Amino acid sequence: MKKKVFISGGSSGIGEYVANNLLANCEVYTASRSPSKHPEIIFFPCDLRDDQQIISLAEKLSKLDINVFIFNAGIGYFGDFWSISLQQEKEMLQVNLWANMVFMNYLLPKVSEKAQFIFIWSVAGKTLFSGGAWYQASKFWLRGFVGSLRKELGNRVFLINPKIVETNFHKNNQTSFDEYKKTNLQDILEAVQDGIDWKLPQWEIDL
Ligand SMILES: NC(=O)c1ccc[n+]([C@@H]2O[C@H](COP(=O)([O-])OP(=O)(O)OC[C@H]3O[C@@H](n4cnc5c(N)ncnc54)[C@H](OP(=O)(O)O)[C@@H]3O)[C@@H](O)[C@H]2O)c1
Repeated sequence: MKKKVFISGGSSGIGEYVANNLLANCEVYTASRSPSKHPEIIFFPCDLRDDQQIISLAEKLSKLDINVFIFNAGIGYFGDFWSISLQQEKEMLQVNLWANMVFMNYLLPKVSEKAQFIFIWSVAGKTLFSGGAWYQASKFWLRGFVGSLRKELGNRVFLINPKIVETNFHKNNQTSFDEYKKTNLQDILEAVQDGIDWKLPQWEIDL
């Protein structure tokens, strides 16, 4: 029987690539503001800045016997610290951090004790660079959250850390990341597939 996999942020970039490619052997569910483009994907509209929408989605997902939850949705505003508006700063904490914590809070008591949780996160959660203070704060914080959850839940929690990936994520940035090392989408997909197959050797995978 096909495994059921949920991915947040499946409408573009990493989430879209992973979702589309998992369709070969999984039943795939996604959530974002704009819809997934693939007709076989079961899509739930959700704005992750809104707690009520997250809770309502978590309720629906908890009834679907999902085997693997992949938390991928994220947003980044980069540039001089003073040039990022308070609204943008808040949005990074809401989408990159708080939304995942709310999801876990509502899902954990209701889903199978075998359900897996994979977080697509970032080397920005471990290394420091200029122009991304709020983004990095959200990623550092979430790494602590996921690491602690791994201690609590055991080997069904994973963190996958890509370097720079060629997606729309950086298109409006004031900061250039051209000189940074890149991760390709296929390597992320393979790490996710290893996670689904219980083949990841440790809780955190740096790509
Ligand atoms: N690209 C990189 O260089 C890179 C490197 C390391 C880690 N990452 C991480 O990888 C993840 C995916 O990034 P990406 O490169 O694929 O970016 P992307 O192409 O911009 O995709 C971001 C996804 O998140 C969703 N999203 C954003 N705000 C949302 C909201 N308020 N509510 C619901 N969904 C929302 C978007 O959907 P809608 O806009 O339709 O809502 C979209 O599906 C992020 O967590 C990012 O931090 C990216």
